[in-house]
Amino acid sequence: MTLSKFFKTLSALTIGSAIFLAPTLALSQSAPDKEGKAILARQGYMKLVVWEAGPLFGMAKGAMAYDADVAKARAANLKAISQYPVENLFLPGTSNEARPGKTRALASIWKDSAGVANAFKQWRSAIDGVVDAAGNGQSELAAAVGALGKSCGTCHKPFRAKAS
Ligand code: HEC
Repeated sequence: MTLSKFFKTLSALTIGSAIFLAPTLALSQSAPDKEGKAILARQGYMKLVVWEAGPLFGMAKGAMAYDADVAKARAANLKAISQYPVENLFLPGTSNEARPGKTRALASIWKDSAGVANAFKQWRSAIDGVVDAAGNGQSELAAAVGALGKSCGTCHKPFRAKAS
C-alpha cells in the first residue's frame, strides 16, 4: 500500500467510525437511565389518565354536554388504564429528592407504602363507581366523577409536590 492510499484508508475508517459513534454519543448524553425512564413513564401514565378523565370532568361540571355513549367509553378506558400496575414505576431512587426538577413524587411515597396502596385502591374503586354511573344520566355521573376527583387529591396531597 502506498502512503497516500494508507492515509485515504485511514481517513475513511475515521469518518466511518465517527458516523458510527456519533449517534451512540448523542444517545448516551440525552437518553434517560432506568430511573429517568420510569419517571417519564409514570408521568405519561398520569397524562393518559387526564386525557380519558377530561371529558368526564367536563360533563360533570356541565362544561360539556352529557353524552351517555361518550361517558361510558371514557369510563371503560379509565378502567382499563387503572388495571395497569403503575405502582411498579415508583422505583427506589426516583423521588423529587433523588431527582430534583425531574419529578414531583415526594419521598413520603417510599416511607408510607401502605398509604400509597390505599390511595390507589380508593382511586380504582372510584373509577368503578364512574363505570357504573356513566350511562345513568348527568347527575349520577357528576356524583361519581366528584368522588373520582377527590381520590386524585387524596393521593396528590400527601404524595405529590406542588408544581414549582
Ligand atoms: C395513588 C396516587 C395517585 C393517584 C390516585 C393519582 N395520582 Fe396523579 N400523580 C401522582 C404522583 C405521585 C404524581 C407525580 C409523578 C411524577 O412527577 O413522577 C402524579 C402526577 C400527576 C400529573 C402530572 C403528570 C405530569 O405531566 O408530570 C397529573 C396531571 C395527574 N397526576 C393527574 C391525576 C388525576 C386527574 C388523577 C385522578 C383521576 C390522579 N392523578 C390520581 C399520584 C397519583
